[in-house]
Amino acid sequence: MTSLSRRDQSVIWHPYTQHQISSLTIPLSKGEGAFLFDVDGKRYLDLISSWWVNIHGHGNPVIAKAIYEQALQLEHIIFAGFTHEPAITLAEKIVSILPAGFSKVFYSDNGSTAIEVALKMAYQYWYNQGQKNRSRFLAFSGGYHGDTFGAMSLGRSSKFFDHFTDLLFSVDIAPYPATWQEDGEVEAKEQNALQWIEHYFAQHAETVAAVIIEPLIQGASGMNICRPEFLRALEQLAKKYNVLVIYDEVMTGFGRTGELFACLKAGTNPDIVCLAKGITGGFLPLAVTVCREPIYHAFLSDNIDSALVHGHSYTANPLGCAAGVASLQLLLDPAALNNIRTIEAMHAKMLKKLATQPKVEKIRQCGTMAAFNIALPTAYGSKVSYQWREKFLEHGLLLRPLGNVVYLLPPYCISAEELCHAYEEIIKVLSTI
Ligand SMILES: Cc1ncc(COP(=O)(O)O)c(C=O)c1O
Repeated sequence: MTSLSRRDQSVIWHPYTQHQISSLTIPLSKGEGAFLFDVDGKRYLDLISSWWVNIHGHGNPVIAKAIYEQALQLEHIIFAGFTHEPAITLAEKIVSILPAGFSKVFYSDNGSTAIEVALKMAYQYWYNQGQKNRSRFLAFSGGYHGDTFGAMSLGRSSKFFDHFTDLLFSVDIAPYPATWQEDGEVEAKEQNALQWIEHYFAQHAETVAAVIIEPLIQGASGMNICRPEFLRALEQLAKKYNVLVIYDEVMTGFGRTGELFACLKAGTNPDIVCLAKGITGGFLPLAVTVCREPIYHAFLSDNIDSALVHGHSYTANPLGCAAGVASLQLLLDPAALNNIRTIEAMHAKMLKKLATQPKVEKIRQCGTMAAFNIALPTAYGSKVSYQWREKFLEHGLLLRPLGNVVYLLPPYCISAEELCHAYEEIIKVLSTI
């Protein structure tokens, strides 16, 4: 193990890592179900689905076989002027499970690129119709939408990108009504946010391209939940003032919220939806930006200037699309829904137990995702949060607290016993803090 870690250390620069204070990386050699195994055979329960991408568990043979068979047939092609069956099938399936009215799928490679595409789609939608001054975007306090420059601009309030402020384009930031169990002030927070947004739209709507939100739960800034009521009211305001609504469902898509998509759970109808992470079951990088027909129509003319001039070399990679089709088949099987319900029930049960622990506050759950705060001020990436992460690893749990926020977002194949065990171990770790 150490020799691989040392080789890694000499050549690799890892994401979101302060190498001076972090321990050596752990070389993993195998994944099976909800577990990852390091090269020495120690196993870790993957409670964060490997950065929220894995939905059916590691090494899923159905997805692995679909990729293998596709690789023997057609590994990759240019996606302008050509197409292939897995891309078409996946797009058809995605459109069929989103709310009615979504009709066009634009492929890219990851969550951030899906967001960049959505930004361009929204801006150029207005531009192509002669509304060239619609250059404002409204995002939410604490929102995170990825690490490319457009996405960072949207996430400018998240604190992740403070060094880059001078390079980001300006985005307006609305208050976000984060809530948790037994929060007596949620309605007041929602009213405050909605009043702010209405006032903002009343002043600026004609220059706003779109409002973007991580629906029901903000991920990276600390698993902050909002109520579906808030999303419905936001949609009403956006409709009233003729502003597009973009849902960043990069984390919430494909069952995470307990329904296939957050928009279905909330009963809302955004104009553009971004999906990535779970789309291939966690096997390959792939993303889509899905829009309604009128948006697509605004890009049609005899002139390339009005087209969406955007694309990536690996757009709609056939292996990724084949993985996506296989993953969706698994997700739409009633067995997956049963697993999701089991996780929801186990979270609810064990969160009650957690609530009795000292230092635990702001307990919250959204479908298969659960979170709580440790009542100690601990910054994101601080030494203390590294130490907590290591303690969890010693207990065989792969958890990555976001500052003082501990969250569980497991693959759907995790058993009730495994999840219950995870909570028991978390309680043991908490007792040492
Ligand atoms: C809500 C949300 N949007 C966008 C992204 C960016 O996705 P990616 O890391 O695939 O670029 C993330 C990643 O965590 C995310 O959680």
